[in-house]
Amino acid sequence: MKIAFVGKGGSGKTTLAALFARHLAAEGRPVLAVDADINQHLAVALGGPAHAARATTPLGEHLPAIKEYLRGDNPRIGSAAEMVKTTPPGRGSRLLRVVEDNPVYAACVGVVGGVRMAVTGEFSTADLGVACYHAKVGAVELLLNHLLDGPGEYVVVDMTAGADSFASGLFTRFDRTFLVCEPTVRSVGVYHQYAGYARDYGVALSVVGNKVEDATDVAFLREHVGADLLTWMSRSAYVRRAERGTVGPLDDLEQANRAVLGRLADTVDDTVQDWAAFTRWAHEFHRRNAEAWANDRAGLDLTAQIDPDFRMSPAPAPVTS
Ligand SMILES: Nc1ncnc2c1ncn2[C@@H]1O[C@H](COP(=O)(O)OP(=O)(O)O)[C@@H](O)[C@H]1O
Ligand SMILES: [Mg+2]
Repeated sequence: MKIAFVGKGGSGKTTLAALFARHLAAEGRPVLAVDADINQHLAVALGGPAHAARATTPLGEHLPAIKEYLRGDNPRIGSAAEMVKTTPPGRGSRLLRVVEDNPVYAACVGVVGGVRMAVTGEFSTADLGVACYHAKVGAVELLLNHLLDGPGEYVVVDMTAGADSFASGLFTRFDRTFLVCEPTVRSVGVYHQYAGYARDYGVALSVVGNKVEDATDVAFLREHVGADLLTWMSRSAYVRRAERGTVGPLDDLEQANRAVLGRLADTVDDTVQDWAAFTRWAHEFHRRNAEAWANDRAGLDLTAQIDPDFRMSPAPAPVTS
């Protein structure tokens, strides 16, 4: 199950993504956390050392090798250089499972705070606003496009704030999107913008209120978010202690907030994966991307990479004897 945490900057995406990933790991469930934000804070939120953004080698630094691995012997992809962030898998491509040994994970996945995680890499100010930024997040899009996961397996992605994720097909890669929302006008404004895209692209969106202090906060969220409001976290002394440098054991999290994490897991588990839509949007965004810029850059018609007969479908569960 692919899960995104999105929302306004400062709403608590990283905090909730980290707590959720730790909750899943504590229950012994297979999980991979991915930091896809411009500001790489997930490793620290998971309890890694300060300035832990480099706890693992960034995916962006291994992009050519990742492409080379994923293309496998897919005859529609002549070389790794012809692969762009939206190049979809086809027959011959290598697919990734959430937990397995492969060279991509060997190079880029580390364990931080008991959670397996990968990072896109820090963005320098020089990267912002130019293609490099999307190239880095492109590694995550490629990874997700080639990730074959099933119920009971979780990929938790801490996404970048606001509308950046609509610049590509990345926001359509998730089985469940949690929009973290403070009880403020600006935060619900981001919700309304996101909900518009969610409707148009069939994104399964749930709002998780955060930093809620009292009943008027809940009423405010209900008024503006309606039935999309799934649950909410209160303002947390545990989180504030973590902010001061001590990420305590998960059992120290306030009971009601811990229950929220269980509610998120249940919601994910109740979500039915739609591989047909996953494949359809992968093809559609690749076509758009190819026609907008990638064909010109590659000097090729990259839409030929789309394998119309290929569809991601869940691999059978491992055989146990
Ligand atoms: N439930 C909460 N209670 C108290 N502080 C919180 C809570 N959630 C987040 N915060 C604090 O709010 C700030 C922003 O959170 P963060 O997760 O970094 O947001 P985002 O990733 O959306 O930018 C951090 O200082 C974090 O510690
Ligand atoms: Mg963040």
